[in-house]
Amino acid sequence: MKQQRLVQRQHPLFSPIALLMTAVLIVLLALLLWQTGGRLFTPGDLSSMARSPQQSGGFANHAAFGDDCTQCHDPFVGVTAVRCETCHVNISQQRESGAGLHGSLTIANCAACHAEHQGHDFDLYAAAFDQFSTEHHAALFPLHGQHAPLECDDCHQNDQYAGTPATCVGCHAEPDLHKGLLGTDCARCHTPEGWRPALLTDHTFPLDHGDELPAGGQIPCATCHTAAFTTYTCDNCHDPAEMIEEHREENISPTELTNCIECHPTGEED
Ligand code: HEC
Ligand code: HEC
Ligand code: HEC
Ligand code: HEC
Ligand code: HEC
Ligand code: HEC
Ligand code: HEC
Ligand code: HEC
Ligand code: HEC
Repeated sequence: MKQQRLVQRQHPLFSPIALLMTAVLIVLLALLLWQTGGRLFTPGDLSSMARSPQQSGGFANHAAFGDDCTQCHDPFVGVTAVRCETCHVNISQQRESGAGLHGSLTIANCAACHAEHQGHDFDLYAAAFDQFSTEHHAALFPLHGQHAPLECDDCHQNDQYAGTPATCVGCHAEPDLHKGLLGTDCARCHTPEGWRPALLTDHTFPLDHGDELPAGGQIPCATCHTAAFTTYTCDNCHDPAEMIEEHREENISPTELTNCIECHPTGEED
């Protein structure tokens, strides 16, 4: 019977050969990393688009420095505005001065609107608008009422965004109804919910004036504004002859009766 030789076998992981293999693997990996500049771990190619021949940071596009991850990524932090703005100086200028689109935004995280690693064909500019509706509402110009269903190019023709007028009169002409009469601060009286009825929350003369209206009733506009909204008459209810008579009793001559609201701004006696 052959005697079994008892060998004190080494654990295979620590065999000299295994150790050598591990070392070689590490060196290979390091070489590969150095060669590819970390591209191994990228989730996808960077965009090679450029709308203008103008270069930013000395490069033609993002793909041109795609290997240099730290241009955009802060180690252990991620994409930061500071890194992007090293090249996109105009954006940091906007944000510092509070001007332009990026000076108005409520979100500072560039990556919230500017995705990357979507391939070479990825259009950085067009994609910027994908997340935009809520931000338009919060930071630029709320799109409510009859503005809500509009297409972008109803207000921004030919993809022209900067310099869009933000006041009503910039886009809506005064109507013949009150052209040249009520001023151009339209928002005082109108909202995008509709032109009619006009708001007139600051109409000083009470519209429920007098004691002959049903509860909650209002005197129709045309009773006082027979010709335009800048002129009024009280004659349709207060007979002029009677008024002359009654005011004469107060020692007020008929010639003084031209502007009733001078003395009755709220329609009260005193
Ligand atoms: C032009 C700028 C830019 C460069 C250069 C760049 N990235 Fe990114 N990367 C981005 C943006 C933008 C995102 C999206 C971040 C987000 O969604 O929050 C991103 C996301 C990632 C993500 C997903 C995880 C995360 O942080 O959100 C990884 C992983 C990543 N990048 C790796 C790399 C690697 C590796 C490189 C270099 C080979 C690289 N990136 C180069 C801009 C860049
Ligand atoms: C190393 C310089 C550099 C860095 C860093 C950089 N970019 Fe760019 N970016 C460019 C270049 C170059 C272009 C292509 C030329 C151009 O359109 O200005 C470009 C294009 C863009 C465009 C399209 C511009 C257009 O007018 O169509 C957007 C959007 C953009 N970058 C956003 C970012 C964001 C967000 C970051 C940070 C995650 C970033 N960039 C980081 C250089 C850079
Ligand atoms: C809320 C979404 C949003 C955020 C956040 C945002 N952008 Fe933009 N960005 C846009 C839109 C929309 C456009 C295209 C419209 C325009 O240029 O007026 C744009 C255009 C750009 C452009 C190309 C136009 C130009 O003026 O050069 C660059 C570069 C850019 N952004 C970089 C940045 C950087 C850097 C950050 C972070 C500091 C950032 N963006 C944050 C929405 C955003
Ligand atoms: C009812 C009109 C209207 C519609 C519809 C509209 N916008 Fe605007 N938008 C404006 C106004 C007004 C401003 C200017 C706000 C300011 O400067 O205060 C503006 C500003 C912008 C800006 C910033 C321009 C800059 O550089 O300062 C961008 C980008 C923009 N809009 C994109 C869009 C997109 C994308 C859509 C469609 C989803 C859209 N808008 C729909 C009226 C509109
Ligand atoms: C950037 C341009 C722009 C601005 C600023 C703007 N609007 Fe508009 N608005 C439009 C467009 C475009 C329409 C679609 C109908 C049209 O072509 O007139 C519209 C439609 C309307 C409508 C629906 C009735 C109609 O005329 O078809 C009302 C009401 C309205 N706007 C009120 C306002 C008020 C009030 C303001 C100021 C607080 C304002 N708008 C500011 C562009 C604008
Ligand atoms: C001081 C208040 C006031 C101001 C300011 C004002 N409006 Fe009016 N607007 C009115 C009143 C009142 C009406 C009639 C509403 C009704 O009869 O219900 C009216 C009606 C309209 C109508 C409907 C006209 C029609 O024929 O159907 C439009 C359109 C209109 N306004 C646009 C504007 C624009 C644009 C501006 C700014 C340039 C403006 N308004 C400024 C008070 C105002
Ligand atoms: C729709 C009809 C109507 C119109 C229009 C009208 N009023 Fe009157 N007014 C009345 C009635 C009704 C009374 C209460 C009875 C009375 O004292 O003659 C009254 C009362 C008054 C009084 C007395 C209030 C009091 O405290 O006793 C004054 C002052 C007055 N109106 C001023 C005006 C002026 C100024 C205008 C025009 C801007 C005007 N009214 C337009 C119907 C009207
Ligand atoms: C009882 C009479 C009376 C009625 C009814 C009346 N108004 Fe007036 N309105 C006036 C008087 C008086 C003024 C001048 C007030 C002032 O300058 O303080 C005036 C001023 C105005 C102005 C000019 C405001 C400004 O400050 O530029 C507008 C617009 C107007 N009215 C619209 C209306 C509309 C719309 C209606 C119907 C909803 C209406 N008014 C109903 C008496 C009336
Ligand atoms: C110079 C100031 C003045 C002017 C202008 C004026 N009023 Fe008077 N009004 C008075 C005074 C004062 C009284 C009496 C108040 C009292 O008895 O306490 C009065 C009283 C009234 C009364 C109540 C009369 C009654 O006793 O029943 C009415 C209605 C009236 N005014 C309407 C008008 C109308 C309409 C106009 C424009 C055509 C007008 N007023 C212009 C000063 C004025």
